[in-house]
Amino acid sequence: MSVSFPRLDRPILSSPMAGGPTTPELVAAVSNAGGIGLVAGAYRTAEDLADQITRTRALTDRGFGVNLFVPTPIDRERDEPSVRAYAALLADFAGPDVQPGTPRWDDHDHFDDKVDLLVQQRVPLVTFMFGVPDPKVIERLHESGSCLMVTVTDAQEAQAAAEAGADALCVQGTQAGGHRGTHEVAATPNGLNWQELLPQVQDLTSLPLVVAGGIISSEDVAQALGQGAIGAQCGTAFLLTDEAGTSAPHRAGLSDPQRTSTLVTRAFSGRPARALTNAFTERLDPVTPAVYPMVNHLTKPVRAAAAAAGDPDRVSLWAGTGWREIHGGSAADVVVHLCP
Ligand SMILES: Cc1cc2nc3c(=O)[nH]c(=O)nc-3n(C[C@H](O)[C@H](O)[C@H](O)COP(=O)(O)O)c2cc1C
Repeated sequence: MSVSFPRLDRPILSSPMAGGPTTPELVAAVSNAGGIGLVAGAYRTAEDLADQITRTRALTDRGFGVNLFVPTPIDRERDEPSVRAYAALLADFAGPDVQPGTPRWDDHDHFDDKVDLLVQQRVPLVTFMFGVPDPKVIERLHESGSCLMVTVTDAQEAQAAAEAGADALCVQGTQAGGHRGTHEVAATPNGLNWQELLPQVQDLTSLPLVVAGGIISSEDVAQALGQGAIGAQCGTAFLLTDEAGTSAPHRAGLSDPQRTSTLVTRAFSGRPARALTNAFTERLDPVTPAVYPMVNHLTKPVRAAAAAAGDPDRVSLWAGTGWREIHGGSAADVVVHLCP
């Protein structure tokens, strides 16, 4: 069974941005402008996600999507020593006033409960990051009418997602801000940009393809459409918009002319993700183990304390390679600006 991609009057999807930037207001504004807004379902309980969906539906009659992180397999015996070692280094960096968090070795991000919720909610588009969901999940969501899109970062992942029954793929290039969607937590992400990866995926499948990574201008979107994509998924472009819930230090970091570069780092969560270089990445990037989501649990209180104190050097300043060109204003204006 396959479900067709929801209607896109404008070829723009707003990235689901877990951890604050994506709000119901942002999702609704993008959908109301003719694109598709994506609700960030990760790091939430099913009840919290239900509330996000209700609030989004109150703001738009148009189609929108919901994104989930596919749970990463956990091997406590193998990984606990490296997580403990990282906790000690993080405590040293954080200083005496903030304690690192406690790793939760049974954390599957409420995935099953959220799938149950989405089966009931019948949203037009459900997207997955960090892997391909089980066949049963795909079957249940298909039966309830959702189109399923899987983020892929290489040809093998694309092949696996297509074979499993995905209806569309989000082809994520190395330019992307935030997490890389690599399916294997320990895999070193490749350096392919979406312009290079898209033709490789097109050789494997005729599924509709959305591209992501560093897309900031109408020229970028025109290039994506010219290469055969049906749309562009943009995150960083929306981080400074009025509707985004981007924290004050994150906004300040993105606008700070002193910040000069981004890097792909495991420092914040244990999974590779692109962020602006800051004291946190400089100190901890070289020593972070590839263990997700336990590194995320450890760093959360450190990042929260820094956010409360307005300190951009100890928060995750997620940013794609196009960060220099982004601007504020309404999300609808950004959608219009992105359209060729
Ligand atoms: C702040 C931030 C948070 C993100 N959170 C998620 C997420 O929760 N789920 C997801 O699938 N992708 C997430 N991403 C990655 C996006 O899906 C997408 O690949 C990325 O935004 C594209 O690159 P760009 O930011 O340069 O436009 C996030 C990106 C950013 C910038």
